[in-house]
Parts: sequence; C-alpha cells; structure tokens
Amino acid sequence: MDYSIRIAAWAELRADAMLIRNEVFVAEQRVPAELEMDDMDAVCAHAIAYDAAGMPLATGRLLPDGHIGRLAVRSRRRGQGIGGAVLQALMAVARQRGDREVVLNAQTHAAPFYGSHGFAREGEEFMEAGIPHIRMRAWLA
Ligand code: COA
Repeated sequence: MDYSIRIAAWAELRADAMLIRNEVFVAEQRVPAELEMDDMDAVCAHAIAYDAAGMPLATGRLLPDGHIGRLAVRSRRRGQGIGGAVLQALMAVARQRGDREVVLNAQTHAAPFYGSHGFAREGEEFMEAGIPHIRMRAWLA
C-alpha cells in the first residue's frame, strides 16, 4: 500500500478535497459546480488518501446523519483499492461514534463497488445531476 488516509475537518482538508472533486465530478462527470457545492461540508468528517509524496488521490465525506458522499478517486489511481479504503475509513468513523448504519446515493454504475463493501440497494433508480443513482444502506457490525 503506497498511500495513507487522513480523516479531518473541512478547514484542514478543503483544498485537497476540492481539487479532486472538481477534477472528477465537475470536469470529468460534468456535474454543475453549483450542484457539487453545498453547505454540509463544514459539518462533515472528511477523508483524503495521499500517496507517499503527499499527493491527494481520493476523497469522501461522512455527514452527521450517517450519509456517506462525494467519494471520488483520481482517474489514474482507480481500481487499486483506494476508493474502497476511503469508504471503509468513513464507515469506521461512523462506527466509532456509535452510528449503527450508513447510507448513500450511489451512482448506479458504482453499485457493485458499494455492494462489495456490504451495501444493499433500496428502492428505485433516480436521476441526480443528470446521472442515474440508487440509494444503498449498510449495517455497521
Ligand atoms: N468503478 C470502479 N470500480 C467498480 C465500479 C465502478 N463504476 N463498479 C464496480 N467496481 C468494482 C471493480 O470491479 C473492482 O472490483 P474487484 O476488486 O473485484 O476487481 C472494485 O469495484 C474496485 O474497487 P476500488 O479499487 O476500491 O475502487 P476505486 O478506487 O476505483 O473507487 C470509485 C471506486 C467508484 C469511487 C472510483 O472509481 C471513482 O471515483 N469513480 C468516479 C467518481 C464516481 O463515480 N464516484 C462514485 C460516486 S457514487
């Protein structure tokens, strides 16, 4: 493993999280920048994976109500387990603070990825920012 994951508040991780989110969601996936931004970041726990040189590779966030979101891995580093490690780190934060479950709105293409981490699909597919999504939930052991 040539990366490490840092968990911290928005004030500390904002610049690195925004760099990755702008690259992945706004530039690559064409999500309008105003939809990518919301006022929840200040109250979330944030995770960033860094390589050995301190380069940010991936990000994600956990809301106070147990929602996980904004999970993104920079394109060159996908398929190497980093997204899974960030997801597991956020689930560990939720577990440690006493949450019993986590939920997320998965882009449907990524549902098998979340499924391999214990998330089950709920309800019907819906559109958000022009991208098909499905709600998923995982119990925290
Ligand atoms: N993208 C990547 N992997 C997917 C996938 C998808 N759409 N759907 C299923 N998988 C599976 C892979 O087949 C692989 O399984 P394997 O290990 O059995 O081969 C596994 O998930 C990959 O796991 P990991 O390497 O931990 O995933 P990752 O680091 O590539 O992170 C994403 C996964 C989806 C977060 C990442 O690809 C990404 O940032 N994509 C663009 C942004 C995005 O769509 N974010 C999701 C918002 S809900």
